[in-house]
Amino acid sequence: MAKFPKDFLWGGATAANQYEGAWNVDGKGPSTADMLIGGDVNTPRRFTKTIDPNAYYPSHQGSDFYHHWEEDLNYLHEMGFKVYRLSIAWSRIFPNGDDIEPNRKGLEFYRQIFKRCHELGIEPLVTISHYEAPYHLTEAYGGWANRKVIDFFVNYAQTLFREYRGLVHYWLTFNEINMLQAPFGAYMAGALPLEDGAELKPDTSGAGDRLQERYQALHYQFVASAKAVQIGHAIDLHNEIGCMIAGGMDYPLTARPEDTFKTDMADNMRNFFCGDVQVRGEYPPFAKRFFEENNIKLDFTDADRQILAIGTVDFYSFSYYSSGVETTEKNTDKAAGNQTVSTRNPYLKYNDWGWAMDPLGLRTYLNRVYGRYQIPLMVVENGLGAFDKVEADGSINDDYRIDYYQAHINAMAEAIKDGVDLIGYTTWGCIDLVSAGTGQMDKRYGFVYVNRNDKQEGDFSRHPKKSFYWYKKAIASNGEDL
Ligand code: BG6
Repeated sequence: MAKFPKDFLWGGATAANQYEGAWNVDGKGPSTADMLIGGDVNTPRRFTKTIDPNAYYPSHQGSDFYHHWEEDLNYLHEMGFKVYRLSIAWSRIFPNGDDIEPNRKGLEFYRQIFKRCHELGIEPLVTISHYEAPYHLTEAYGGWANRKVIDFFVNYAQTLFREYRGLVHYWLTFNEINMLQAPFGAYMAGALPLEDGAELKPDTSGAGDRLQERYQALHYQFVASAKAVQIGHAIDLHNEIGCMIAGGMDYPLTARPEDTFKTDMADNMRNFFCGDVQVRGEYPPFAKRFFEENNIKLDFTDADRQILAIGTVDFYSFSYYSSGVETTEKNTDKAAGNQTVSTRNPYLKYNDWGWAMDPLGLRTYLNRVYGRYQIPLMVVENGLGAFDKVEADGSINDDYRIDYYQAHINAMAEAIKDGVDLIGYTTWGCIDLVSAGTGQMDKRYGFVYVNRNDKQEGDFSRHPKKSFYWYKKAIASNGEDL
């Protein structure tokens, strides 16, 4: 029996602020991501209120997709992509977020991409907001913790549904919406204004300061997302609109019941808090106690309740990179992801940024989420960040990346055998791009190398890596030949 359904959506994913560059070209306004200076594994990214001419802001040039999009789409086509997940930069369409009229040049930029995708037999999957918002909305309105921002987003989403009717059928409202539960994600998504010079660091539990503000912002995003789902369906019945969750697999460190309890609660908060609202249309039962104990009082109207109940998503999508460990023990060995810190798992190997590699965790996660929701699932991010070496003959032999993908694709095949309805897979950063967590270009995920590094050297030329040919074969054989 074939491992994957015959219409399985194989592909890859990028995000505008990490990939497009051209941050102030053709009418684009600054976004929250454009105010972030680059860092590295030991140096947190830093936010500046105004652009410092002597600092390096990686999103300003990204991988210069803005001027390489035709070439890049040809590479995706050569690999046999069935789907390409990309995000639209909100501030390319509405430069300030509260503008009355959209920026036509921005709309046309994406239209030509979607048209070309269809010529190449590639289905676009569009993230409406991927870790950015027009900067003006955070500065003038305080970001997502202000109810007014719901209407600005809904107007933006409606504009996209109307403009790209017939060109785009797959949509995600917010990237990793559950990362609003962490301060880093909250800033990126435009939820919170920050102090000038603030450093963006992972937060251990999501229970850091400004909880009230972050959960209020999250609530407004839920309402905005549910409204967008309704409008998207009304504009085109063929639209399939999903949620997008940062998938977290956690294991208890010991068999002590307290460790298991803590793990289950972390799982609830991270994976099911947002999933329940967006898939089931209401907050989960454990939310009430969490709000009470943390003194969070939401502005939550009856109209909101109805909107959430009606605007549920058609499919559940998520990112999956690694897994973590929960324990009540203090002083354990720590490992950090880009937004979370966890205890180190002695049974797993880690990449250079401290992310555990755990393909079986992906199978467990797929089973767990499918068991709860029983709607189609899509893995929309998965990949290995690594330093790649360009050999003297120009080749890049990224066997470590091939091994990572092989193991994760096998895990997905097993989950499908387990009965999970998995409809697609888009690897992260299919063409090298800037890291969200560290702002590095040298943390590479792509099948295609982009000649640009953290010293800002390189001409942005593209070069397929060994994994490019491997993924092409994997897609051509529908996941049989890995
Ligand atoms: C996800 C984000 O959290 O992880 C992406 O949706 C991000 O935007 C990806 O790039 C990988 O993280 P990083 O920090 O290695 O870029």
